[in-house]
Amino acid sequence: MTLYISTPIFYVNAQPHLGHAYTAVVADTICRFARLDGDQVFFQTGTDEHGDKIVQAAQAAGVEVGDYVAQISAMFRETWPLLEVAPDNFIRTTDPAHMATVQAILQRVYDNGDIYFSDYSGLYCKGCERFLTEKELTEGGLCPDHLTPPEAVTEQNYFFKMSRYQQWLIDHIQANPDFIQPERYRNEVLSFLSEPLEDLCISRPVSRLSWGIPLPFDQRFVTYVWFDALINYISGIGYPDGPDFGRWWAGAEHLIAKDILKPHAIFWPTMLKAMGLPPYRRLHVHGYWNINETKMSKSIGNVVRPGEMVAEFGADTVRYFLLREMSFGLDSSYSPEAVLARRNSDLANDLGNLFSRSLTMVKNFAAAQVPTPGPLSAEDQELADACLKMLADYRDKMREMAFRQALERVWEVIGRANRYIVTNAPWELAKDPAQAERLRTVLHTLLETLRCLTCALQPIMPGAAAKMAAALPLDPAAGLAAHQAWGVLPPGAPVNLGENLFPRIKKGQ
Ligand code: MSP
Repeated sequence: MTLYISTPIFYVNAQPHLGHAYTAVVADTICRFARLDGDQVFFQTGTDEHGDKIVQAAQAAGVEVGDYVAQISAMFRETWPLLEVAPDNFIRTTDPAHMATVQAILQRVYDNGDIYFSDYSGLYCKGCERFLTEKELTEGGLCPDHLTPPEAVTEQNYFFKMSRYQQWLIDHIQANPDFIQPERYRNEVLSFLSEPLEDLCISRPVSRLSWGIPLPFDQRFVTYVWFDALINYISGIGYPDGPDFGRWWAGAEHLIAKDILKPHAIFWPTMLKAMGLPPYRRLHVHGYWNINETKMSKSIGNVVRPGEMVAEFGADTVRYFLLREMSFGLDSSYSPEAVLARRNSDLANDLGNLFSRSLTMVKNFAAAQVPTPGPLSAEDQELADACLKMLADYRDKMREMAFRQALERVWEVIGRANRYIVTNAPWELAKDPAQAERLRTVLHTLLETLRCLTCALQPIMPGAAAKMAAALPLDPAAGLAAHQAWGVLPPGAPVNLGENLFPRIKKGQ
């Protein structure tokens, strides 16, 4: 299969925080998982650099806007490697190639008669960079996301005939149950579409905002930032003439949080339809990271910096925490205590101990080599079956974006393997030469278990999994399918003890 996975392109009005990092880590994890499972994958992220709020942020910082966007964009670009997030492309909406594509698309949609000029009055939220409908406001008349009053704005503008594609969109969502997932967001979109859709205002007068892409057919206006930004998903893979465009677009899956559901589920598919392109394959929508019940956000100022978290806990722990703690689609709470608890209990105690105990025993009792096993006992077979069942369930759960459940399956096997060590007490077997074959079988069963765990953890914790793989040693080129068997490690292969994977961290260390 072919997969083209994207994150939203992030606004450059503030530095990256943990909320952005979550989406990037999820995208990177899916990408690594899909590659492990044999897919062709392309992963894109980037920055959204036009619009009112960027200009305001640059002014507040006292920096020329072009310099400002370059600085913050670089911060996003430099944050991702800290988290082992490895995109194939990092797009900026100020890239000349992107700007040219936006203009070509506008001209085409205009020539086809889907863009018209008209008066407009509406309630505009600067934070959202869009007009809000009365229905969307809180009881007190505020923007529900920014808790600020929208501004009443009246001006002449260009409009995209979005309403023309409303019925087509409803039909498409109904015919493709997976188009928007989880289902609660699909239902939200369908409910929104049960009311008549308004056309989309897609321009801003240069007199009010000059930091944008000029409309090719009227230089008195620049392009509305969402019309510009959404196009990144196709300009970044070479639309219209790039040799790989068709291949990647057929596998397009977007990843967003619920804050930007409407632009992605309504504006974007109708824009694509107007351009004569098929819609993306799927939209995956996740919830918010909250701190004390409030969304983590730059406008509220309650943010956690990914770089600081990585410095304290390491990239693997941060990635594990994010994927294990949040049920994809629902909100979750962040606290440093919760990260520390996951680190010390799941990673240091459960996983780290299992590895170090098992490998130490292979070193001491099997000359640091994969031993040749004898016949499997019922208990060995049970552990082997549990490992292979885990890999199969893990695969299904990862494909469903149910990372938390996938990891729960992995940790069930870790718990089982730790109990297996206690009941089989290899250190006792080692004292009795008559038990030599039994000892080899137990150690072999443990090494095979470690192999299956390492395979599953590769997309989640690439750094730690690389150390685990080197210890065993695992064939780095082997995909998931090659691991879904028992007895893969060749007897006689050298096993290295390696370093302690997850030392315990003391509070406030
Ligand atoms: N620039 C637009 C997106 C354009 S895409 C064509 C934008 N940028 S943003 O910087 O505000 O990023 C929003 C995205 O950041 C969310 O959809 C989500 O991916 C991520 N998150 C920001 N805060 C978050 C949380 N508190 N929790 C989870 N994700 C968060 O919107």
